[in-house]
Amino acid sequence: MSTLLRITDVKKSFTAPENGVVRVLNGVNLHINPKTITSIIGSSGCGKSTLLHIIGGLDQVDSGVVEWKGDDITQWDDQKMAAFRNTEMGFIFQFHHLLPEFSAIENVMIPAIIQGKSERESNRLARELLGEFGLGHRIEHRPNQLSGGEQQRVAMARALINTPALLLADEPTGNLDEKNSTTVLNHLLTLRDRFNVSILMVTHDKSIAEGGDFVYEMTDGIVLSV
Ligand SMILES: Nc1ncnc2c1ncn2[C@@H]1O[C@H](COP(=O)(O)OP(=O)(O)OP(=O)(O)O)[C@@H](O)[C@H]1O
Ligand SMILES: [Mg+2]
Repeated sequence: MSTLLRITDVKKSFTAPENGVVRVLNGVNLHINPKTITSIIGSSGCGKSTLLHIIGGLDQVDSGVVEWKGDDITQWDDQKMAAFRNTEMGFIFQFHHLLPEFSAIENVMIPAIIQGKSERESNRLARELLGEFGLGHRIEHRPNQLSGGEQQRVAMARALINTPALLLADEPTGNLDEKNSTTVLNHLLTLRDRFNVSILMVTHDKSIAEGGDFVYEMTDGIVLSV
């Protein structure tokens, strides 16, 4: 099986004049194969979001290599990176970042429109995905007219509309109660098979993390097998 993503000795620190240097990633190694679910558990502030932002091309490493299908993404120009984010990668953010002035279906359609699909095709795909997530009756609602769990499912549909190879999920159950958390986890588990997607999720919730095929722990800026 060929590796989708391979991270080698990635280091990252932040420097703020008032706070000094915060060393966050101290040499992270990780690889992800197609159609697998990998979870990384770690306490608040340990660097989980930072790692996902680097993998998703939203932040840069200080040193180390991030390879996507054997190609080092840290060397890509903005245009190549933008295309990668739009077509290969789906991102479910920690605070899902739905656009408040757009309806659920419009939020889901946007990445498909950006990719160049017609409005009609984008609408059809978005409607189908929202239906799969049990939101067929809520497509015209704006985010503030949806519950937290519903917003999270809209964010998942949006992340999947361009059929990415890898879905990055940052604390996908972070703001949800136990019942909704279980629902989201079940969705993630079925996505792997239905959409042939790999999922990398980071969470502080042990019971959710243990649903993955591979479970790692992040501590002291490195990722360890558990
Ligand atoms: N832009 C930044 N400038 C300075 N420090 C930062 C910056 N971004 C993150 N940090 C620091 O880096 C550390 C890791 O942050 P990160 O958001 O990756 O943690 P996390 O594991 O996702 O936490 P949580 O579970 O609370 O979401 C934190 O201590 C944070 O304060
Ligand atoms: Mg975080």
